[in-house]
This record gives sequence, structure tokens and C-alpha cells, in this order.
Amino acid sequence: MSSPIILALDTKDPKEAANWIKACAAQIDHFKIGLEYFLENGKASILDLQKEFDFKLFLDLKLYDIPNTVKGAVESVSELNPKFLTVHAAGGAEMIKSAASVLPGGSITAVTVLTSFSDYEFMHLGYTKDISQTASIWATQAIAAGATSLVCSPFEAALMRQIAPKATIITPGVRLAGEKLNDQSRVMTPKQALENGADYVVIGRSITSEAVNGVGAMQNKIAQILESINP
Ligand code: C5P
Repeated sequence: MSSPIILALDTKDPKEAANWIKACAAQIDHFKIGLEYFLENGKASILDLQKEFDFKLFLDLKLYDIPNTVKGAVESVSELNPKFLTVHAAGGAEMIKSAASVLPGGSITAVTVLTSFSDYEFMHLGYTKDISQTASIWATQAIAAGATSLVCSPFEAALMRQIAPKATIITPGVRLAGEKLNDQSRVMTPKQALENGADYVVIGRSITSEAVNGVGAMQNKIAQILESINP
């Protein structure tokens, strides 16, 4: 099975994460674990999940520090064999090179400008170029330094695809038409994101909030999303 959906395991509870993986494993093979889960439960808990389930790990730690520190941090999680491990592109070429040097079997995934920034807030930090110009510069440098995947908004996916034709492009911020936006403001449908050049879409609450209605509801939701992508 190869599905373009990456399910975000946005929970602090290992039992809940395990239940979500179990419920979705027949339809989804990539699962994203982020800081919320990692800081609460640590590496050992991810190893436990890997013992129980066969899945591809997207480790979303968004590392950002001096090159030597990031290198050490990547070494500390390399035992988990993440397929994707996120770092901030803003950390620069040396930081990304250091990260890539100690994760030969995985993909260093550069996060460009966070989509939570407004243009005003971004400029106010002192940047002189706008968000999309900055994202382009950072993505170009990140790929040249050894990142092989990029996280961006679906609205930037086409631009990133031009800049980095061979990179794996991953976009959060997707919703089916008519779905709740929660705290996402600019969204596209999964189909639009993939048509714009994304290889994978990260989906969280659209699927996991169905868990309150049971495993069947989650599985139906995933089937509905997959059907919307490939009718
Ligand atoms: O629940 P929802 O589908 O909005 O979850 C999206 C996931 O993608 C979350 O794990 C969130 O942290 C992540 N994300 C995002 N927007 C970004 C980067 C990451 O929503 N720009």
C-alpha cells in the first residue's frame, strides 16, 4: 500500500496514538509524531510503537540550533530510523549539512516559513523579503545543503516543486470541502495540494476527531479522503 496521507498523531497519550495507528494501518503507512508526543513520552515510547506496528515515521521535531548541537540531536534520534525528520530551513546550510551527515538512511525535511506567520508579523521581525521570496531562498539552500524533502503550505507547493523538482514535498493545511477549519486559515483540499505538486498531505484532526465515533468512522473518513483524491 502506498497512500499520500500522513496522519498527524497529535496527542500526548501513547494509548491513543497506538489506537489511531491500529485503526488506520490498513489505509495509511506514514504517521507523524511531533513535539507534543515526543516531549511527553520520549524516544522509548516511539520505539514501543515501532515494536507493535510496522509504519513509516515522520518525526516532526523542527530542529533549529547551531550545527554541532543539531548533529547531536539527530544522532540521538537516529535509532528511530525516521523516514522524515524536520529541521528549520532558517537554521542555514551548515546546520542542514550536519543533520544530513548523521541521518544517511532518512530524509532531512526542511520547514520553510511557518504558515502561521502573517506578512505583517514576518516583516516586523526584520526580514526584508516577503514570505514567498524568503521561502524560495531558504528551500533552495536547504536542498543544496542535503535536505531531500520540504514542508510547505499547499499554496507554495507549485513554487517548491519548481525550485526542487526531485524533493519530496509535504503539505499540511488541507481540509475536505465543507470541513471545519479549526485554527488553519488558508487551506486547500488534499486533491488540490497533490495537483499543485505535493507528494504527501499531512492530515490530523479531520481524521482523528472521528475517533470519538469509533474506528469505523475513522476508516470511513480516510476512505472518503482517498476517494476524493482518486475518484
Ligand atoms: O489537525 P490538522 O490537520 O490541522 O493538523 C495538521 C498537522 O500539521 C499538525 O500536526 C500541525 O502541527 C502540522 N502543521 C500545520 N501547519 C504547518 C506546519 C505543520 O498544521 N504549517
